[in-house]
Formats: sequence, C-alpha cells, structure tokens
Amino acid sequence: MTSDLGGRVVVLAGGLSPERDVSIRSGRRVAEALRGHGVSVDTLDVDGSLLAALAEDRPSCVVPLLHGAAGEDGALRGVLDALGLPYVGSRPSACRSTFDKPVASAAVRAAGVAAPESVVLAATTFRELGAGPVLAAIESSLGLPLMVKPTRGGSSLGASVVRSAAELPAAMMAAFAYGDIVVIERYVAGTEVAVSVLDDGDEPRALPVVEIAPDGGFYDYGARYTAGATEFFVPARLPADVLAACAQAAVTAHSVLGLRHWSRSDLIVDAEGRPWFLEANVAPGMTETSTYPQALAAAGLELGAVTLGLVRRALAE
Ligand SMILES: Nc1ncnc2c1ncn2[C@@H]1O[C@H](COP(=O)(O)OP(=O)(O)O)[C@@H](O)[C@H]1O
Ligand SMILES: [Mg+2]
Repeated sequence: MTSDLGGRVVVLAGGLSPERDVSIRSGRRVAEALRGHGVSVDTLDVDGSLLAALAEDRPSCVVPLLHGAAGEDGALRGVLDALGLPYVGSRPSACRSTFDKPVASAAVRAAGVAAPESVVLAATTFRELGAGPVLAAIESSLGLPLMVKPTRGGSSLGASVVRSAAELPAAMMAAFAYGDIVVIERYVAGTEVAVSVLDDGDEPRALPVVEIAPDGGFYDYGARYTAGATEFFVPARLPADVLAACAQAAVTAHSVLGLRHWSRSDLIVDAEGRPWFLEANVAPGMTETSTYPQALAAAGLELGAVTLGLVRRALAE
C-alpha cells in the first residue's frame, strides 16, 4: 500500500458531456495504473451524489479525468478548491481560458506561437446579421478551406473541414449543435502532432512528439477511439529542428496559459515546418488510443508512476 498518501485517491470520470465514454475509458486506465503502485483508488462519476461521497470518506487527492465542460472549464475544480481537496491538474482560472479555444489561441499567439487566423461567431450574431452575408464576408476574408468548430468542445465533436462555400452553412449548424459560439479558422494543411507536457519537476517539459495519421484523413471521433483507425508515429517523422519547435510551442502554451502538472497541445506542422497551435487540453485523454500515454511510454515513463508523482506534488502544493 501507498500509505504515505494518507487515504484513498478518487479518480473522477464520466460526467454528462458528449465525451462521457472517453472519460470513463481514461479514468479506468489511470485508476488501474495507480492501483499497480499499491494506491487505493475509487472511481466516482459526477452526479448529485458526488459531494456527499467526497464528504463521507474524504480522499487524500482527486484526479479529474473529465473531458468536455465542467471537467475542463474549471467549474468542478473550483468546487474541489471550495472543499479544500487537492487535485491533479490545472487550476480553475487556467482551465477557463484554455477550454475556450479563441481565448487560448490569442494568449498563445501573443507569446509568439503561430495560430490560425479566425473569426468567432455567436449564434445570436449569426441570426441577427443573417447567415448568408456573414458567411460570405468570412469566406472572402479567410479564404478556403476552413475549419469550423465549437469554441468549447472536444474529440472533434461538431468540428468539420469546409472545402467549398456550399459546405459552410452545414458545418456551422454542426458546430452550433455543440455550443452557442463557433470558431471559423483558416485550415492548416500539414502533419498533425500532439505534444504532451509534463510538469513534475522544476520546469514543464515536452514529451516526445506524437504524429497522428488518420486513415480517413481527418482525426474525427471515430479515428480517435477505434483501434487501428489511426496510425501514430512516436517520435513524429519530422526533422529534429521541427520537433524542437513543436516541443517549444507546447511548453510555451502550457506556461502562458498557466497550466499545471499535465497538458497536451494539438498542433499542425505546415509544409515549411512551422507548428500552428490549434488548442491545448487540461485533461488529456488517457484511453488506449490516446496520445498522452503513448508519449509517456516513448519517454520511458509509466502512467501510474507519473500520476502518483503528480498526486504527491498536488498534496505538497
Ligand atoms: N485550423 C485547422 N486546420 C486544420 N485542421 C484543424 C484545424 N483545427 C482543427 N483541426 C482538426 O480538427 C481536430 C479537432 O480540432 P481541435 O482544435 O484539436 O479541437 P478538439 O480536439 O477539442 O475537438 C484536430 O485534431 C485537427 O485534426
Ligand atoms: Mg484537439
């Protein structure tokens, strides 16, 4: 037993977001990995019984592995702070600005990392001004192809590539189905990579860059969570200086967004070898097909040992 923790660890997984299933898989994997180190772990869902369960048998630490809103927008972590419970991962205010893609992009761009030019549209503005003229203006300013996605989403849900003007209205509707605000940005063609950051020492450091090559071309929900639907290369098949630039971009994002313990930045490397920041994740996926565990393995690290190290860090902080 890992008795120095002073009690059980609670992994939070599930929740009511569209990424509930992904979260349950992430939670199961991390819970098993911690048990492998003798940690007593309970996995709890986020529902009306959660706070009573936490109060009745106070855990030493919480590991939130909730994807989507509540888990990633900082709300639930704010409640954990109010309860005085330590947890692994970023603080609520950092989560809020990271989960909002345009807010995060602006901060990361200001720190010198390229981020695609974009227009952010609320459903109300879209309706008030009329879809036709708004979309025509955006298309003439940003050009084609475009990427359309909800500002606060995940797992590519509601995200689509728009290659012709005729596809734009349907893409907007698909994104509005996942939230009231949508970002339309320049599509960056190139090599998609995920860069995991581990912040368990003096400075946050990037783990080996994972290249994502989906069979169908787009890293959508199916490509993410169907075994074999995407090929991964670790490290990415890119020149050393480009890998270093990707690592630097992810560490910059982690630092400028004020993130803690672990994060993952999603980037596209264009034909010139320049990394473009798409978004950062405060609760990186930990499923069998997720990139964070692959990056850890490539660095010679084990998920359970790393998570336990972060639990100890959270207790000390
Ligand atoms: N500007 C862009 N250019 C090209 N592809 C993009 C762009 N933005 C997103 N994508 C693609 O869509 C996927 C989902 O976008 P992302 O911003 O990572 O949101 P999330 O993972 O939260 O759904 C990415 O993994 C990438 O394949
Ligand atoms: Mg992403």
